[in-house]
Amino acid sequence: MSDPKIPAHVAIIMDGNGRWAKKRGLPRTAGHKKGAEVVEQILEDADHMGIRYLTVYAFSTENWLRPAMEVKALMNLLRTYMISSMEKCAKNNVSVRVIGDRSKLSADLQESIGNLEEATKNNTGMHFQIAINYGGRDEIVRAVKKLVAKARAGEITEEDVTEALIADCLDTAGLPDPDLLIRTCGEQRISNFLIWEGAYTEYYFTDTAWPDFTKEELQKAVDAFGNRERRYGGLTGGQS
Ligand code: FPP
Repeated sequence: MSDPKIPAHVAIIMDGNGRWAKKRGLPRTAGHKKGAEVVEQILEDADHMGIRYLTVYAFSTENWLRPAMEVKALMNLLRTYMISSMEKCAKNNVSVRVIGDRSKLSADLQESIGNLEEATKNNTGMHFQIAINYGGRDEIVRAVKKLVAKARAGEITEEDVTEALIADCLDTAGLPDPDLLIRTCGEQRISNFLIWEGAYTEYYFTDTAWPDFTKEELQKAVDAFGNRERRYGGLTGGQS
């Protein structure tokens, strides 16, 4: 049986790339580049720690508001990742899935995402989710639209609408909810990330900027998780 003190699913809001770069007199895009390298390292570290699912917030539905040059740099990093990680995922038995509304991404990025997902879908090791053009509210809106279409087609009625059916219409369908969500670089908010899935998630905040995030930091977050008592709205173990 899996160790309940190790979170099966860890989600990360990778904040602070810009501040990290500014502190060093570098362009913000240098922070994102270093951040992308850290993602690859943490994926390996998480795997070694026994974490089964890792989900990272790479680009939110709000990030389009950033300067065009920064958006372009982020899209380029993601494009490079989709192509360059193909071999590594095969070697490490990692399956990759992208969550978010990919219809707004460029055709070539959509294609390379599809290729990586297809090539890795039968891998049985770590499950790696990358949120791109993702917003929790947007995900729920798209799920509701799918339900309305099903109702219109006569496939479901009001009575069929349950939490499980809604979860099945989300981008994260089939994945366990995150057990632990880490946000780096000091802010303590959720920023529209996994808002349905995070109903019972434990949150961990650190002041470390994402480009400085290490295996030791991840271990600290996992240890903090192991010391929490999860009650899911019920009573503590000893109470009756
Ligand atoms: C937040 O820092 C970070 C982002 C908006 C982008 C995160 C993306 C990456 C690390 C690249 C992803 C790559 C892969 C391979 C998945 P910020 O820019 O908001 O930092 P700031 O708050 O200090 O300005």
